[in-house]
Amino acid sequence: MLFSLAILLFISPTVTALTDLQVNCTGTDRLYNDTSCYVVVGTAKPHGAAKASCNHYLGYSGHLVHIRSAAVKAVVKQAMNNYIPAGTTTVWTGLQLKNSSAVTTDINNWGSYYRNGTSVTPTYLPWQSGQPSTAATNNRAYYGSAGDGIVNAAETGTYPYVCEYEEALKQPVTDLEKKCANLTSSFKTLFVNDICFVMHPETKYYSDAKVACNDISGYNGHLAHARTMGDLWVVNALVLVSPLTVARLGIEHTNTSSTDMTSGWYLTTPTNQSELATFLPWLPSTPLPVRHSLAVRPDYPNFVMNIYTTELYPFICQYEAMASSATTTGGGRAVSKFNHYSLGYFSNNYYWIKRSTVPLYLCINMCHTNNLCRGFSYSSGTSDCQLLAVNASSVPYSSQLTADNQYTTAVRELL
Ligand SMILES: *[C@@H]1O[C@H](CO)[C@@H](O)[C@H](O)[C@H]1NC(C)=O
Ligand SMILES: *[C@@H]1O[C@H](CO)[C@@H](O)[C@H](O)[C@H]1NC(C)=O
Ligand SMILES: *[C@@H]1O[C@H](CO)[C@@H](O)[C@H](O)[C@H]1NC(C)=O
Ligand SMILES: *[C@@H]1O[C@H](CO)[C@@H](O)[C@H](O)[C@H]1NC(C)=O
Ligand SMILES: *[C@@H]1O[C@H](CO)[C@@H](O)[C@H](O)[C@H]1NC(C)=O
Ligand SMILES: *[C@@H]1O[C@H](CO)[C@@H](O)[C@H](O)[C@H]1NC(C)=O
Ligand SMILES: *[C@@H]1O[C@H](CO)[C@@H](O)[C@H](O)[C@H]1NC(C)=O
Ligand SMILES: *[C@@H]1O[C@H](CO)[C@@H](O)[C@H](O)[C@H]1NC(C)=O
Repeated sequence: MLFSLAILLFISPTVTALTDLQVNCTGTDRLYNDTSCYVVVGTAKPHGAAKASCNHYLGYSGHLVHIRSAAVKAVVKQAMNNYIPAGTTTVWTGLQLKNSSAVTTDINNWGSYYRNGTSVTPTYLPWQSGQPSTAATNNRAYYGSAGDGIVNAAETGTYPYVCEYEEALKQPVTDLEKKCANLTSSFKTLFVNDICFVMHPETKYYSDAKVACNDISGYNGHLAHARTMGDLWVVNALVLVSPLTVARLGIEHTNTSSTDMTSGWYLTTPTNQSELATFLPWLPSTPLPVRHSLAVRPDYPNFVMNIYTTELYPFICQYEAMASSATTTGGGRAVSKFNHYSLGYFSNNYYWIKRSTVPLYLCINMCHTNNLCRGFSYSSGTSDCQLLAVNASSVPYSSQLTADNQYTTAVRELL
């Protein structure tokens, strides 16, 4: 008896231990129940913007709530009722119609989406009476606490939302995820599968956008590659918050004299060789002629279409953790040697692979890890770093250098 009591005392602290998520899931806008933390956000947003805003806890791949069961529905209702200021009676959920060509009334046609664009088919769909609407445009669903059930609505409807953070999805928080979340004051971002996707609302031609993915120092960025339907779902969520609802991807039709628009599309980066794109779910009636770059649109389900390289569009960048490593893997070289060439820089930006404002050591490292970098120009005054696509000391480039004693230009010796 004494013995078993001793064991009980010994194990009880473990039984009552709280998880990190549980510890942090406090406040009148949130509730922890059965291994998930639910956060009510009272600010009304369209569904895509709501998705990209589930960043209360890093490391948990936050997503819009999955109303899996009557118990979860009760918890969400409770969280909404607790929410201050009160008055939030409708919230977006993570439910989306998977397929626009099938009917809204078929449960198999709905998916509860995770942040990576993968969904689970719900077994529980508590429609309010008279729901679902059969309109194909009502392809998202919100929960209403008054009717205690779900209603399908168009993506553009603005509602408050509930984010869910699950213990089971916990991952270590990486430096990239923190930096990605830090960008959200100026951009919309989604951190998915160790990739930080960043929506740039400003518009650029393709050639300029291609070298403009420099948001996160220490990480090589490039225009987003949508390789799978999941990736396309992610960039689709971001394009929904862009001003033009069309955004550039890093995919181009490299042979601009070819009139065969269905083949010859490549995934490009400013650092690596291009790679043939094999996943191209064309918007009906596309590809169109003469348009040699690719874009994502908010069409439903998720499609790509081709656009002119010299028209102004917003663009989506992506950053990966691998690319910054200065080792022999990940496209970098074991050793790089840089020889000082001259004081000056190139004003012709076609010679730049990338331009950023970074300390000198990062500028050197960025060139070192970039397979296509042939040298750099660096200003000690302004920390302006221009990675060069050309050998600055060779003809005809050498004669085009603008003399400036603030800039040093170095040529990379390939070892
Ligand atoms: C939760 O709170 C603990 C301190 O109790 C803190 O160390 C931890 O970083 C927090 N975790 C998250 C995900 O915010
Ligand atoms: C979770 O929610 C259910 C349903 O409302 C409730 O019965 C249960 O007590 C809740 N659990 C916790 C730990 O709050
Ligand atoms: C969408 O639904 C239609 C009609 O049911 C079906 O033919 C098609 O295969 C579905 N597409 C996908 C991607 O599930
Ligand atoms: C997407 O995320 C969910 C939840 O984390 C996971 O179960 C699923 O395997 C992921 N899918 C892909 C393709 O990574
Ligand atoms: C994120 O931003 C905060 C506030 O500006 C800063 O203190 C922190 O160092 C930043 N974190 C990272 C990983 O950049
Ligand atoms: C580009 O396309 C043109 C027209 O089809 C063709 O003649 C040419 O060989 C192609 N160039 C390359 C490099 O494939
Ligand atoms: C460049 O290519 C290497 C090797 O294929 C790959 O590991 C790396 O992720 C690529 N970098 C970028 C930025 O795509
Ligand atoms: C750069 O060009 C100069 C002059 O043509 C040449 O001597 C040198 O080997 C080149 N360097 C590299 C790394 O290609």
